[in-house]
Amino acid sequence: MKNYGTLSKKLPKMLLHGGDYNPDQWLNYPDILAQDPVMMKKAGVNVVSLGIFAWSTLEPEEGKFNFEWMDKVIDDLWKNDIRVILATPSGARPRWLAQKYPEVLRVNERYERQHFGIRHNHCPTSPAYREKVRIINTKLAERYASHPAVIMWHISNEYCGECRCPLCVSAFQKFMKKRFGTIEKLNHDLWNSFWSYTYNDFDQIEPPSEIGEGCCPGLSLNWKRFNSWQTTDFMMEEIKAVKSVAPDLPCTTNMMRNDWTLDYFRMGKELDIIFWDSYPEWHWCTSSMESGDEAVEAAAVSMWHDMYRSMGGGKPFILMESVPSVSNALKYSMLKRPGVHRLSSLHAVAHGADSVQYFQWRKGRGGHEKFHGAVVSHDGRDDTRVFMDVAELGQDLKALSDVSGTGVDTKVAIFFDWENRWAIAATAGPRNAGMNYTETVTAHHRAFWELGIPTDIVYNESDLSKYDLVIVPMLYLLPETTANRLKDFVKDGGTLVGTYHTGLVNEDDLCYLGEKPLDSLFGVVAEDIDTMPSEIHNPVLWNGHEVHYALEMCELCNLTTAQVLATYGTDFYAGMPVLTKNQYGEGTAYYIAARTDFGFLKEFYGELTAQLSIEPAMKNLPAGVSAVRREDEKNSFLFVMNFTPVEKEVLLDAPAADVLSGETFEDKLVLKPYGVVVLK
Ligand code: GAL
Repeated sequence: MKNYGTLSKKLPKMLLHGGDYNPDQWLNYPDILAQDPVMMKKAGVNVVSLGIFAWSTLEPEEGKFNFEWMDKVIDDLWKNDIRVILATPSGARPRWLAQKYPEVLRVNERYERQHFGIRHNHCPTSPAYREKVRIINTKLAERYASHPAVIMWHISNEYCGECRCPLCVSAFQKFMKKRFGTIEKLNHDLWNSFWSYTYNDFDQIEPPSEIGEGCCPGLSLNWKRFNSWQTTDFMMEEIKAVKSVAPDLPCTTNMMRNDWTLDYFRMGKELDIIFWDSYPEWHWCTSSMESGDEAVEAAAVSMWHDMYRSMGGGKPFILMESVPSVSNALKYSMLKRPGVHRLSSLHAVAHGADSVQYFQWRKGRGGHEKFHGAVVSHDGRDDTRVFMDVAELGQDLKALSDVSGTGVDTKVAIFFDWENRWAIAATAGPRNAGMNYTETVTAHHRAFWELGIPTDIVYNESDLSKYDLVIVPMLYLLPETTANRLKDFVKDGGTLVGTYHTGLVNEDDLCYLGEKPLDSLFGVVAEDIDTMPSEIHNPVLWNGHEVHYALEMCELCNLTTAQVLATYGTDFYAGMPVLTKNQYGEGTAYYIAARTDFGFLKEFYGELTAQLSIEPAMKNLPAGVSAVRREDEKNSFLFVMNFTPVEKEVLLDAPAADVLSGETFEDKLVLKPYGVVVLK
């Protein structure tokens, strides 16, 4: 595998380590500002993200700029070898701006204009906001882009949310006109003769809202599309401003876990590097179908790491935020148990991060996040458990600098598409108690993660040519173009696994009539789906045993050309297929007709990957242990991670040494509780 190179032309080969730094909150504390770079060096910090919410300090009054404090901060950091990811400050607007240009504030679902307050409360369409952002971004670029310390842009912060102001509504109407062309086509494609929804003109269109339309799935889907596009367009204007001054400085924005409002895949196409903010819920996770232990949470977070790596075309991503101790935003603030900070951070690196960064460097004295974990707490000490954990990780990252630019070689891709998420959520039925799309994709991903097989996460527009195996769980919304690419992939020799609730509607949520696009590929035709409470289980007869079960969503399929591999054990559809296999061209398509227990997925994918000779990074991993390999043409680093509080033994094929501790192992290695080794 080739090395992807460094994240910015201004960087040598290294892994970044640092975090959000908010000196604008400390300008009255010169002693603290003087201590910061010195303490950062001690902690092994080599980068900070600067100025994320600093607009009111940078421009305290309209047109009056104050950059001197930032000049000094950047120079002082650079003198200490600390680099800067410079933010554009649009994530929170100054009070004077909202007062003078009220149009910048958002309008909510009840069509109420929001008052000034909190961050991210601004309209993505407002020309006044766009212009003020353009001015401050250009000024920042002119002043700092050529500073040797400044390596890239952190555009805004965690874009999210929606606005229904008159400007946004009008932009939405234009978006719909562009998409559908004529009102007749729009009425047809949104199926508007239903409940007399027919429009006479585009200017009658309103976004779905709490006090208006809420039952038109095509409208809801297109509103989400519009809002995501409008935010992306806003981001692109921000990027244009800084690139007009410094075209080569990479731009990116920080994304989140599970954000609902923005289609990150389509937004990510406009970015040079992918950043994301990861806040795993260690020790009390609830994020998976089977909640409970750290390994389940680790598997779920791994899917997001894999997705952000895939989004950048396999290039290393930046872990932009994580917490060095505990967040104050979660239900509980359980302290990370010894070893977990290192494990959680190296977990991101294993999956493709070339950085570990934190929110934040120093805890604020006041404000909403004053108790959010930081490297330096209110006591200002550098001998706390958290500080020492961070400093130790700094040493590890230094020792791993050759990991920089390496990739993860993947043969398996799993689909996770935002438009599909939106479309499933906007539709009534078939299981209003919970369709669990994200959880289902997470479960399929976890099966591979537990097997030690690396996966990419892809979406409807991704190129599939490099994969041997492609999984499409619950791909309800399936444009014909994607259906054709899936069929070509199999025809040419690929292996595909699809599930229930796949390929039912087109890109505007209109049901396919007659034969559906993937019926011939799978060789089965789904006729009905039985959905039920989670407690009801139907045994699955497979491989001569009955240890697995179907639950929640059970499709009743008729066979055309497929061969049956597993069947339902009870109910009036006992004997009907749960798992089928169909030869199509040179390849094979499997169909899983029901949601199953996790064990079924793991056993099925274990057998299938063995048949396809898709090798795990390491064989026979004990429960709770994961192995991921990063490599290039020269180096190969195998990260072996124990996500359990007990020691674990892993058998080795050959003697190996841990790059971090220097420890050598003959035929087995013993991982400490929450331990990590990196074998070269
Ligand atoms: C992030 C955000 C940071 C900080 C952090 C606290 O989502 O980008 O600014 O608020 O959460 O967990």
